[in-house]
Amino acid sequence: MKGRGIGFGKAILFNEHFVVYGIPSIVSAIGNHTVAKVEQWEEAELKLEDNRKATPKYKEDKLEQQKDSLNRMVKKMNINASKNGLKITLEGNLYCASGIGASAASCVAIARALSDYFDMNLSDDEINDVAYEGEMGYHGTPSGVDNTASTFGGLIWFQKGENNIIEKISMRNPVEIVIGNTGKVADTVAAVAGVRERKEKNPEKYKEIFDRAENITYLARDALQTGDFKEVGKLMNENHKLLQQIGVSSRELDFLVSVARDQGAFGAKLTGGGLGGNMIALTPGKELQEDVANAIEKEGYQTVKTVVGASYGGIE
Ligand code: MEV
Repeated sequence: MKGRGIGFGKAILFNEHFVVYGIPSIVSAIGNHTVAKVEQWEEAELKLEDNRKATPKYKEDKLEQQKDSLNRMVKKMNINASKNGLKITLEGNLYCASGIGASAASCVAIARALSDYFDMNLSDDEINDVAYEGEMGYHGTPSGVDNTASTFGGLIWFQKGENNIIEKISMRNPVEIVIGNTGKVADTVAAVAGVRERKEKNPEKYKEIFDRAENITYLARDALQTGDFKEVGKLMNENHKLLQQIGVSSRELDFLVSVARDQGAFGAKLTGGGLGGNMIALTPGKELQEDVANAIEKEGYQTVKTVVGASYGGIE
């Protein structure tokens, strides 16, 4: 069917927030994705119908940002939406919550669907650029890590710079993770601004933390490539500690992280902007994945069971 596009959800395994300052990060697309459909609309307007399942208040909180994001994308693509009369419908199996790449996935899905509808034939790089523009509507000046994972799929080394470094990380086999949702909608812009403020006040302390975060990414990449998941888990735990130190964890995130670890997860940490939103636990094997997900659900929180390192499309 013409006028359709998808964007993957994502889980940041290492270095959210640090990535904003040019420290390398590791991110994986997950199988859950958002689908966008573009059709002609009888009114001379750009109509959006959002049928995605979402954490309560998520859509209401993000409504203004979503409008800004959409307007930025159509402008970047030189589409006169109100003249054409367009309806965009969002659906798919990615549950909207903070930290799981819902905004990026929707931007990528919309960019792909519009490109398809208007026969623009945009390359993945061009889709990624449009989606980045859309992400600016949600996050101000995002690093670009989310839309990159959402566009290309697979497991990715991402480093922001004048030219971003985007490299595929190959794993022997995908590995199971559990994503746990605190149910709290978080404000990524505020979380990023808070880090900047504290970093400026405590440059020396933050330099130490940032240096360690950088080291961790290199160690983590080696461990992921060799399939040393005990080591990956240890490094995730350490990464969570660094994220706590820069002030972006929360009581609920720390609680879910400890539930997962107590249940035998190899490692667990917050994922995404923090201050609510989601955490991830590394749970190699279906059995451990099930145990950890059950333990989190028993506490009254939702989970997603998926894998990281699968190439859903993927970059070469
Ligand atoms: C949000 O998913 C990731 C952050 O690092 C922000 C960004 O990279 O733009 C918190």
